[in-house]
Formats: sequence, structure tokens, C-alpha cells
Amino acid sequence: MNDPAGPRRVAVFGGHGKTGRAVIAALIERGAEPVPLGRAEWPALGTALIGCQAACVIAPNLHPDEPDYVATVLGALTRAGVPRVVYHSVASPYAPDMPHHVGKARSEDLVRRSGLSWTILQPGAYRENLDLSGPTVTVPYDVDAVFGFLDLADLGAVAATVLLDASHAGATYELATRQATVRELAAECGLTAQQVPNEVEHPWLRAMFDYYDRHGLPVGLGVLRHLLGSR
Ligand SMILES: NC(=O)c1ccc[n+]([C@@H]2O[C@H](COP(=O)([O-])OP(=O)(O)OC[C@H]3O[C@@H](n4cnc5c(N)ncnc54)[C@H](OP(=O)(O)O)[C@@H]3O)[C@@H](O)[C@H]2O)c1
Repeated sequence: MNDPAGPRRVAVFGGHGKTGRAVIAALIERGAEPVPLGRAEWPALGTALIGCQAACVIAPNLHPDEPDYVATVLGALTRAGVPRVVYHSVASPYAPDMPHHVGKARSEDLVRRSGLSWTILQPGAYRENLDLSGPTVTVPYDVDAVFGFLDLADLGAVAATVLLDASHAGATYELATRQATVRELAAECGLTAQQVPNEVEHPWLRAMFDYYDRHGLPVGLGVLRHLLGSR
């Protein structure tokens, strides 16, 4: 249950992106006033943060130095007097074979030591990442590897819940809507699944797909069920 006296004006860093739009939609649904912040708003950040009682920090995808980005944001929140932060991390952040996951692990540490009231979300791979337009779903990793897939609408609902309710301060929540393989998700849509060579250009993405190939990215389901049940 959201605290009726809780924060209503909420800054959403990365609010124009895929993840941010899901968070903003859920905040509006709950009667809050989200303030999306991207590159266009960056020059007037201090002004945009005035009156915000919480902030959701969604770093740009594959940012070359996410801890530096997060440190900059935490500094701006502190200077503006925004008391509460929700950081959008990732499931299994300390996975040294995936450099951008490690960037999020280091950013989590900055958030926990920021002096702000914090909550950390650790989402699994978005279900929306998969192209299910068919007839064959192709991915550069084992189609039988197990993932905790997360629906963006569920992510938005959880983020809005914890942004608006300070009783989640100090919590780290791993989030997945369901456990499945790519082959299973494809079959549910009447499609086949096929692994293709991992030839993606970005070295961090290539490393991530190699990790997925060997280990998948399993994520527990209980936390999301609990949080959505208590909306
Ligand atoms: N995809 C997944 O399965 C998954 C799973 C877990 C976690 N994540 C994480 O979720 C986060 C967001 O991913 P996404 O796909 O939603 O990202 P996205 O759609 O690329 O959105 C990120 C936003 O960041 C802003 N941005 C880009 N460069 C910036 C910069 N230099 N300074 C400030 N803002 C900048 C952009 O807004 P403007 O255009 O308005 O500037 C953009 O809309 C990433 O950190 C990713 O690692 C993703």
C-alpha cells in the first residue's frame, strides 16, 4: 500500500527511455507527478529536482562509466535536498565476466553509502527484449538456458510502489515475472527458437551473451509476487 503522505513529485533519470517510460506510466497511474530527466533536461538539473521527494535512477544502456554517472546523479540529489533514491541495477550485478554488470555492482555500493534513503531494484532480462514477430526467434546464446524474464509493466509497478513508499528503504529486490528458456517462450507463441553466432560488436554485449550461453540468468520470482500482491 502506498503511503498517502509519501512523495508525489518524483524525478525519473532516463525517463524517456524504454525502462523509464514504464516507470512513468505506473507513477501517473498512482497519481504521482513524474519528472522525466534525459540529456535535454541535464543542463537545468538543479531546477528540475526542486520539490522532488524521490528519484528513480535508470542509467543509460551500456554507459561507459556507470559509477561515475551514478555518483554525479547522487551528488545532484544531495545538493537539491531530494531525500530518497531508487536505483535500477540488474540481477546478479557482481558477475566479473560481464563488465557492465560490475559497473552496476559498484554503483549499488555508491547508492548504499550515499546518505540518502535508498532502495535497489535488480531486474532480470526484459521479456520485451525478445523479438517474437517470428517465425524463428534467434538469439546469440543457448536457447535452453534459463532466465528470470521481467515484464516492463511489472518493473514499472514495482518501481512506482517503492518510490512512493519509504518503508522499502534499505531493501534490495531481485525481480522476475517468470523463469523460462527462450525456446519455451517462443513455443508459447507458436514459434521456433534458434541460436546464432555471437558476433555482436560491443564487447560488453558479446561478453554478456557468452555468459548467458554458459549460465543463463536465473532470478527468483518470490519478491515480485510479494510486491505486486501488496500494491
Ligand atoms: N534490457 C534489459 O533487459 C535490462 C535488464 C536489466 C537492467 N537494464 C538496465 O536498464 C537501464 C535502461 O535501459 P533502457 O534500455 O531502458 O535504456 P534506454 O531506452 O536506452 O534509455 C536510457 C535513457 O538514458 C538517456 N541517456 C542516454 N545517454 C545519456 C547520457 N549520457 N546522460 C544522461 N542521460 C542519457 C536517454 O534519454 P534522452 O534521450 O532523453 O537523453 C535514454 O532515453 C540500463 O542501465 C540497462 O542496463 C536493462
